[in-house]
Amino acid sequence: MATYETLLVEQRDAVTLITLNRPQALNALNNQVLGELVAAMTAYDADDSQHCAVLTGSEKAFAAGADIKEMAGQSFAEMFSGNYFAGWERFTATRKPIIAAVAGFALGGGCELAMMCDFILAADTAKFGQPEIKLGVGPGMGGSQRLTRAIGKAKAMEMCLTGRMMGAEEAERAGLVSRVIPAAELLDEALKTAATIAGMAPLAALANKEMVNAAFETGLAQGIQFERRLFHALFGTADQKEGMAAFVEKRPGNWTGK
Ligand code: CAA
Repeated sequence: MATYETLLVEQRDAVTLITLNRPQALNALNNQVLGELVAAMTAYDADDSQHCAVLTGSEKAFAAGADIKEMAGQSFAEMFSGNYFAGWERFTATRKPIIAAVAGFALGGGCELAMMCDFILAADTAKFGQPEIKLGVGPGMGGSQRLTRAIGKAKAMEMCLTGRMMGAEEAERAGLVSRVIPAAELLDEALKTAATIAGMAPLAALANKEMVNAAFETGLAQGIQFERRLFHALFGTADQKEGMAAFVEKRPGNWTGK
């Protein structure tokens, strides 16, 4: 398996655990982290033995944002011609499930990266925010769009305009995170949840991710049509036959990913 300077990557059975590892900068996301994360996700997607990923940071910070020191001196021409941050679309192109396990700060690009994952499990220490306005800018990795879709205009607007942080309990109430977990148990719970997902029929997992994501891209009628067609398509898989036979025979499914 490849090794990285800013990430730790390990495989635990069918689960890939990726840990952001730039402690000296609270896991700030620079170009190197982006390149390594995209490489790690591409390898995960291509590895037939891997079926769910967990992305986490440290106890203190999931990630404290895009790297301010890397951006500070850039001109408009450099940002625009280099299409700064466009590379994150290669992260969101990952087809297999990714869980964000967030403890401590998830600010700016850190909050945006967590939202690029399929769902967020938050430690009770997690703090989410889009503080870019305090730097004289705004979100640039999707925060104004994904946060607004996740928690609605009122809270998203307040957070972007004031830069205030939202704690884990409020984030759960608002629908930003799926569950809050005591910090000491976060990683175990995330790995357990990932193992549950990894134990499902792999093609069904890909299809479920595409279906839910379609809700963000389409109108209701089109989204329901997309869901129904994918549902029909799954009847072309061996795992649908196996899954339904296993239910009738009262035994667990034995998946082949075909
Ligand atoms: N970029 C670069 N370096 C960062 C960083 C960032 N986003 N966040 C923290 N660091 C660095 C600090 O500069 C510091 O480095 P030095 O020791 O070399 O000075 C180190 O990490 C530790 O940070 P602090 O000493 O500040 O730690 P703290 O506990 O006192 O404060 C914090 C923690 C409140 C998270 C504070 O670090 C902070 O406010 N960070 C910036 C948060 C932020 O503004 N994020 C948005 C970035 S812009 C963005 O993300 C754009 C976008 O939409 C993609």
